Amino acid sequence: MSPTVRVAPSILSADFGRLADEVAAVERAGADYVHVDVMDGCFVPNITLGPVVVEAVRRATRLPLDVHLMIVQPERYIDAFVKAGANIVTVHVETSPHLNRTLQQIRSAGATPSVVLNPATPLSAVEEVLSDVGQVLVMSVNPGFGGQSFIPATVDRVRRLRAMLAARGLEDTVDIEVDGGINAKTAAEVVAAGARVLVAGSSIFGTKDYAAAIRSLRPAVPSPSGRGKQG
Ligand code: DX5
Ligand code: ZN
Repeated sequence: MSPTVRVAPSILSADFGRLADEVAAVERAGADYVHVDVMDGCFVPNITLGPVVVEAVRRATRLPLDVHLMIVQPERYIDAFVKAGANIVTVHVETSPHLNRTLQQIRSAGATPSVVLNPATPLSAVEEVLSDVGQVLVMSVNPGFGGQSFIPATVDRVRRLRAMLAARGLEDTVDIEVDGGINAKTAAEVVAAGARVLVAGSSIFGTKDYAAAIRSLRPAVPSPSGRGKQG
């Protein structure tokens, strides 16, 4: 398991009229990834953006782009998003009946495959693909909107997912990411349970000091010796 915590600001809560500046600002403020929420108005109730906006974000930062596809038939768009600059592509297990093939498609396109589960989807749904991904995203809200409250049962789901990875010797190669309702308090809880990538929209873009907000989301990571280590 990575000893450091990475923070991925979600541009869903950014000022889209000044998107390039907002992305540059979170990069300067210490972000590790830029999280891009793609919504189609079908899998989720909201509609956001497509590859042209990802391309614009790509031009605004050198940080890895963590692209979260909340769309039906994601396989139709994977190549376009990777071409636009996505480094990590996350697909929902709920939209991907041929998940193994879809994850291979992401890898062949040149990005890191990642899979995500909605809050009510059993962890067993990703069990067979754990060795095919670089990241598993555990939704801590029902996807579709920023600014929702963290679902507390997520903490135990992260703990159980970490155990599933450890049982397969994958805890150092697969990152657990959490998305939705992340603030300083919930960040500490999910990191203690094993999460290492934290997506946060409103708790970063809703503040004036992005650097302070990002710092507050990097809690001490418990180390085997019992001493906390700052990420
Ligand atoms: C929700 C999105 C999230 C969202 C998080 O569907 O996947 O990435 O932007 O926003 P906050 O941090 O405000 O819950
Ligand atoms: Zn997201």
